[in-house]
Amino acid sequence: MRGIILAGGHGTRLHPVTRAVSKQLLPVYDKPMIYYPLSVLMTAGIREILLISNPQHVDAYRQLLGSGAELGLKLSYLPQDRPRGLADALIVGRDFVGDEQVALILGDNIFYGPHLPELLRAERERLVGCTLFGRTVADPQRFGVAELDSWGRVVSLEEKPRNPRSDLAVVGLYFYDNEAVARAAVLTPSERGELEITDLNRTFVDRGEARMVSLGQDCAWFDTGTHDSLLTASLFVRNLRRREGRSIAQLDEVARAMGFVEGRDGQRTVPALAAPGTQ
Ligand code: TTP
Repeated sequence: MRGIILAGGHGTRLHPVTRAVSKQLLPVYDKPMIYYPLSVLMTAGIREILLISNPQHVDAYRQLLGSGAELGLKLSYLPQDRPRGLADALIVGRDFVGDEQVALILGDNIFYGPHLPELLRAERERLVGCTLFGRTVADPQRFGVAELDSWGRVVSLEEKPRNPRSDLAVVGLYFYDNEAVARAAVLTPSERGELEITDLNRTFVDRGEARMVSLGQDCAWFDTGTHDSLLTASLFVRNLRRREGRSIAQLDEVARAMGFVEGRDGQRTVPALAAPGTQ
């Protein structure tokens, strides 16, 4: 499975901070935001990762993360010439994905949960069609919301519904089989002029090929696209560090724990079933 991190966009909700700086380079407590989604892909066992950003920011990411070799990764970088929507990632990244499966993660989404790495690896194994990840929320009206049948299959997806059919929000992590690349290529832009990820996901829902997996209450999820949520996420990371001594998205630790690089003692560590940074 290949991984794509989408780190472009307008970032208007964070203006003026993001007028000159890429949102996903902003700090979330002690690390650039992009480290968090990158560590999620790594704990899922994904090593070939494409980072997509706005043309003026691609070099900054390359400067930050390089080839990925030190982490046992193969990183590549591509510009998105303008923010055409989330589904455009599969068009920009078409050659990178080739005929593999693909995990798409939003560069401003932060996940933390003790069982998340195991869950992601299990979902990779059983992927058919697409797998969406969901989190119960108190205010589903603000999110994309999924309605499921008793098998966990998605029967409907609604964007910011006034009367939500469930309280399960669709988070910014999606697993697709290779079919998604061809389907993204024929999407038409929405009224707001974007290739919508929900439209792509609906093509799987319509064929009964979209599963949703709930992240569970012990998994924290932040979309750090607003000043408040960015601050909340930073405080969450700080509290984990101060209260429990856990440092999350510590990329070198994750790489060692996953067996992508050798440990300090020259031994390969056994791929961890622990959360990023808890080894
Ligand atoms: P959003 O947060 O939905 O949009 P945005 O980043 O443009 O912010 P705002 O609404 O404040 O203007 O985007 C989700 C993620 O996807 C975020 O990491 C940015 C990224 N993105 C792209 O890389 N390309 C795109 O075309 C879009 C729409 C988003």
